Amino acid sequence: MNSNRKPIIAGNWKMYKTASEALALVNGLKSELVGVRDSDVEAVVCPPFTALYAVSTLLQESNIQLGAQNVHWEKEGAFTGEIAAPMLKELAVRYAIVGHSERRQFFGETNEGVNKRAKAALANGIRPIICVGEMLAQREAGQTEAVVRDQVTGGLAGFTKDAMLDVVIAYEPVWAIGTGKTATPAQAQEVHAFIRELLAAMFDSVVAAKVRIQYGGSVKAANAKELMSQADIDGALVGGASLEPKGFADIIKATL
Ligand code: PGA
Repeated sequence: MNSNRKPIIAGNWKMYKTASEALALVNGLKSELVGVRDSDVEAVVCPPFTALYAVSTLLQESNIQLGAQNVHWEKEGAFTGEIAAPMLKELAVRYAIVGHSERRQFFGETNEGVNKRAKAALANGIRPIICVGEMLAQREAGQTEAVVRDQVTGGLAGFTKDAMLDVVIAYEPVWAIGTGKTATPAQAQEVHAFIRELLAAMFDSVVAAKVRIQYGGSVKAANAKELMSQADIDGALVGGASLEPKGFADIIKATL
């Protein structure tokens, strides 16, 4: 971490928790986070779409912000099964995950689509959390930097320097997601530093120094502090460990 960038810990609940289960989880999290100041760390929860309304009501005036797990690029239309940015905005959604590897792998999302989704989020005052990361075979073939470069440049195509200040990037090596196999802090730092250099080349060094880059992939309370101690790791995108209040709160507190 670096004191110029406020840490951001986001919980990606994936396809877990009904609306009533979501409320119970948020109530538990709120109690665990009493006294934690949102000026020190941004805590974000990203429940399934069906729980956003209920959770939004519960999070008013709290130290936790609301995120969604995806967003469509059109403002409305005949796109069965998709959710538009103005729909999220009305529920006080502040962040939207885009380009998660599960979306890329199982639902065919491309860099171009990720780019359009991220732009639509920004146009509606929602900060995109743009996910990038290589698969195991790509790492083993020495392609990590090439894959990440392609995803970062594609995902951020056409972005202005100003817009970049509202973008969060999540580096999530696919082989570390849900597997219990975390990248070592040094492995993660190496890619985070690479992404920051890329941002400096694409925009400038001022922008690169301001953009927050989260690590994701089997983050839990036990490994959060060491990951977060790396210079270019500014937070975490947490799946499994965000489904339980104490474990997730401990990750948030690891940044303090
Ligand atoms: P995990 O998931 O923490 O369960 O590995 C991370 C993610 O997919 O964002």
